This record gives sequence, C-alpha cells and structure tokens, in this order.
Amino acid sequence: MNTIKSYVEAHKTRFIDELIELLKIPSISADPAYTQDVIDTSTAIKTSLEKAGCDHVEICETPGYPIVYGHKHISDDLPTVLVYGHYDVQPPDPLDLWESGPFEPVIKKTKIHPEGAIFARGSCDDKGQMYMHVKALELMNETNQLPCNVKFMIEGEEEVGSESLAWFVERNQEKLANDVILISDTGMISNTQPSITTGLRGLSYVEVEVTGPNRDLHSGLYGGAVANPINILTKMIASLHDENNHITIPGFYDNVEELSTQERAEMAKAPFSLEDYKNALDIDDVYGEAGYTTNERNSIRPTLDVNGIWGGYTGEGAKTVIASKAYAKISMRLVPNQDWREITELFKTHFESLAPKGTTVKVTPHHGGQGYVTPIDNIGYKAASKAYEDTFGVPAIPQRSGGSIPIVSLFEKELKSKTILMGFGLNSDAIHSPNEHFGIFNYLKGIETIPLFYKYFTELSK
Ligand code: BES
Ligand code: MN
Ligand code: MN
Repeated sequence: MNTIKSYVEAHKTRFIDELIELLKIPSISADPAYTQDVIDTSTAIKTSLEKAGCDHVEICETPGYPIVYGHKHISDDLPTVLVYGHYDVQPPDPLDLWESGPFEPVIKKTKIHPEGAIFARGSCDDKGQMYMHVKALELMNETNQLPCNVKFMIEGEEEVGSESLAWFVERNQEKLANDVILISDTGMISNTQPSITTGLRGLSYVEVEVTGPNRDLHSGLYGGAVANPINILTKMIASLHDENNHITIPGFYDNVEELSTQERAEMAKAPFSLEDYKNALDIDDVYGEAGYTTNERNSIRPTLDVNGIWGGYTGEGAKTVIASKAYAKISMRLVPNQDWREITELFKTHFESLAPKGTTVKVTPHHGGQGYVTPIDNIGYKAASKAYEDTFGVPAIPQRSGGSIPIVSLFEKELKSKTILMGFGLNSDAIHSPNEHFGIFNYLKGIETIPLFYKYFTELSK
C-alpha cells in the first residue's frame, strides 16, 4: 500500500470523528438565530487548519461572517494551490422529514453507500467536502509529501450569496495570489464513475409581492369583485413558461450559448439511466423544455422555478378570506454569457408589466451570480483527471453541473486563475434537503485523491 492509502487507513476513524464534531454545530448562515454557531464554526476551522500544518491561520473579519484564511508556504519557486470551501449550511427545515436530528450526525448504510454515510446537514454541502481538504493537508504534511504551497480560504456565507467573500477577494488579491483554485463543493456521476465538474450555472434570485385590496376581505362579500392577489400571482407565474416550457420573458434567451451538435453528442456519452433517475424520485415521467434531454435541461439550459409561495390562510380548517397580499420566491438558473443583473432587470420589467389593474407588484432582487465553464486543456484539469484515474481506476468524465457557486466567476475576474471543481458528492446525497448525507467511501476517497492532485499539478507546472 502506498503512503497515502495507508495513512487514510490508519487514521480514518479519527477523520470521521472530527467531521462529526464539526457537523454538530448548526452554522446556518440564513438564520440570525444561529449567528454565534456560525462564528464558532469559523473558530473550529481555524484550529483544524493549525493542527493540519498551516504555518499561519487567521480569522479575517468582514462586514458579514468571517473568512478563515490559512497557508503553508514552502518556496517561491513552487506553485500555489488555493483551496476554497464553505463552513455555513442551509437551514434544515422541514425538520419533521429528518429521520435523525440534522445536527446530531449518525452513520447509516444505504443502497448507494454500503460502507455507510454520515447523515447531517452540511455533511456533503460543504463541511464534509471542505474538511477532506483539511485532512489531505494533514496527510501530506505528516507524510512529508506536500509538493507545493497551499492557501485555504473558507467562508461562512456561501449559502446566502457570498457577499462578504466578494468584498474580501476584491481587497486581497495579493494575499490570495495562486496558480489554481481547488474546490470540492460539487458532485460526481457515481462511486464507480468519477466526473470533474466543468460548468456551473449562474443564478438570479428574486422575491415578488402582489398586493390587491388594502386589507384581507371576506371572500363571500368581496369575492369575484376585486383582484385576488393569490389568483393573480399564480396566473402571472404560470404565464412565465409557454407550452414548450420555454421561458416567456422577452430577451431571456438572447445571450444563451448554443452548444454544437458535436458538443451535445459528447455530453450524451456520459452514463445516465432515465429509468433510474425517475425511480429515485418516484416520478412516472420527467418534465422540461422541449427539444432537450434531461441532462441538458439541468445543465446547459436556463430555467425558472418558484422556490416558495405563500399568502392567505394556511392554518387548520377553512377560513373564507381574500388575502391582501401574495408572495413568491423565484430562482432563475442561468448559463454562461447570460448576465445575472441583466436577467434580473428583464424579469422585473416583464413581471411588473403582467400585473393587471387593481393590483400592484413589487420585485425585490435577492442575490445572484454568473455561470462558469472551465476548459479542459489546462494543467489543473489534467492533474485532477490523473488523480481520479489513480484512485478510482477509471478516467473521470468532464460534466457540467446545474448548481451554482457564483463566486467562481469572480475568482477568475479578480484572481485571474482557473478553478478546478473536484466534487465527491452524489446527486442522491440530498443536499439542501432533509436527510442530507455524505458517503464514508466518498469522504475517504476525496482525502486520498486530493494529495495526488497536488502532486500532478506540481509536476505539470515544471
Ligand atoms: N455546493 C452547492 C452548489 C452545487 C452543488 C453545485 C452540487 C454543483 C453541484 C452550493 O452550496 C449551493 O447550494 N449553491 C447555491 C447558490 C447560492 C448562491 C445559494 C445553489 O446552487 O442553489
Ligand atoms: Mn456548497
Ligand atoms: Mn449549498
């Protein structure tokens, strides 16, 4: 056994226990009730980076949650890898759908994870994947095989839009100077078919509010005679897609990148079973934009989805009422070349124009970010590819993902370096959902694969 494998084997129980401790802290960035927990998590990360062998670690204050920065410098003549990850997590609700507490990690076996998986909020997104990098550093350090310089930048606001990180990156270009950015915050096809994420979608997230009468009304006395904001809102939302499931906002598709037939044929080669996909979700058919396959719909095509909708009476029993207001939260996933600010404006103008007389509409943009595509003809991608091939025994396939990490395009703009997305999660790991989990196999494979990335990246840099 090589030193990497034997180190992981010898220390795996502790690696798992340490992650479990980290997962117990409810670092929910969206909810101010957890402010102290988010801050405590940053302190825990700082300690772990110090123990793993960084020469210097600091908590960098920002207008929002702190960023943990650490580095180990070996030589000015060697390349520098900048690791990015996030220590904040999504809110765990709905709580009653969790089989065990979201912040009481347990290990359970599943069909896909026969070696067991850690169930907890953040296990996969992103504490588990981020912590693989901390343990990989420990491994390289303890076994004297860290081949280059390394910097860590771990933030606490990814799940709410990374505003403070953007602020930090713009002010610290020199501190963050690097040759490649390495992130594990995405997924792969399966535990036997690794893939490297080559694309992320952009995002525009908005909240809408429709107001009708100035107060809630008796639905018998007034029903039929005034605009009901909930009726109107649902009608407006329904009109945002046509019968082919194309989005109807004027100008929405103007800058959408069209892939060539050849690129689409290349994409279609990735292993995918529509039957398994439907079975895993208990649906009898898929649904989406006409003319595109499921994998195209969720990666290279832009989308619009209601994420939440509310208004009126939703309590026990019935209450006859026409609510004064109705609300929805809407996300648009964007593809490269679509500018998220422009799309947000197009949405606002169009949505406001849909409001009939007797109602008013307010559109409040939340956050957003640009999409990203990475080329595969650079040494970062090649190093990742060789690393996966070594540990999985099969070559990794490049694949675009439907998710978003908006800060990645800003990294390229501000730091002028490429990002390599080495994700080890699976789509079935239920990120952002009840019973989120991360396979023990995936966690340990990540720790094993990362040091090889460093090795090959340094060799290829020469
Ligand atoms: N790690 C995810 C993004 C992701 C997951 C990308 C799986 C590809 C594969 C990240 O934490 C996330 O959830 N991003 C948000 C956007 C953010 C601005 C809230 C998203 O994609 O909804
Ligand atoms: Mn994430
Ligand atoms: Mn997330």
